[in-house]
Amino acid sequence: MRQKIVAGNWKMNNTLNETKELLKGLKKELKGVKLDNTRVIIAPTFVNLQHAVKKTAKSVLEVSAQNLHQAKNGAFTGEISADMLLDIGVNVVILGHSERRAYFNETDEALAQKVNTAVAKGLDVIFCFGEQLEDRQNENHFSVVESQLKEALFGLQAEAFKNIILAYEPVWAIGTGQTATADQAQEMHEFIRGLLAKAYDAKLADSVSILYGGSVKPNNAEEIFSKPDVDGGLIGGASLKEKDFSAIVKSI
Ligand code: G3P
Repeated sequence: MRQKIVAGNWKMNNTLNETKELLKGLKKELKGVKLDNTRVIIAPTFVNLQHAVKKTAKSVLEVSAQNLHQAKNGAFTGEISADMLLDIGVNVVILGHSERRAYFNETDEALAQKVNTAVAKGLDVIFCFGEQLEDRQNENHFSVVESQLKEALFGLQAEAFKNIILAYEPVWAIGTGQTATADQAQEMHEFIRGLLAKAYDAKLADSVSILYGGSVKPNNAEEIFSKPDVDGGLIGGASLKEKDFSAIVKSI
């Protein structure tokens, strides 16, 4: 049975002290919460990863990075390698977030290289993708998502998908408060699962967790998560508030 996952993408937020406070609050809110076949992941910025790994060691919380570079090491100022993440106990990485595609020109081709490196090193990858508002208005959203997945992921061998978590994040829903409806999420997730079945097989398609991201809040999470092809959420703003993020976790 595929895993349920709630992941919090902290983006460029929280100093070390703010990280300490948020982690303390999250552990308090989630203490004793029964989670069946569910992963709860948080993604602080690079500078706070090591502290987060240390402070979450005996908790339900896993720690993810928000990016990595595909090279083993070298002259890539400002970048972080897979080995550096593994070295501090980080085994999950978010790749392909729309903000990195938009602000740092990450192409599907570059993301394929990052995914290949991460999977080769045994990291779990939360792979983000999703259409722009204009794509949806022009009814191109399915072809856009298909292209993003084909270009960045469908070159992988089938067994690599044991390390892949998909995160469908319609860009028009990110940070806008304009959440996709539960039916819109289900429709796209079902389409994505169909693409996996066609490119690989039904067993693989059924095993991959597909998360929805884009203005998930405590008041809409339960309905979105109730859909058969929605396996959880990738949470931005609400992940920065321990009561909101915990409420979303409890609704999975
Ligand atoms: O990666 C998750 C993020 O993009 C969603 O942000 O604030 O709409 O929950 P938000």
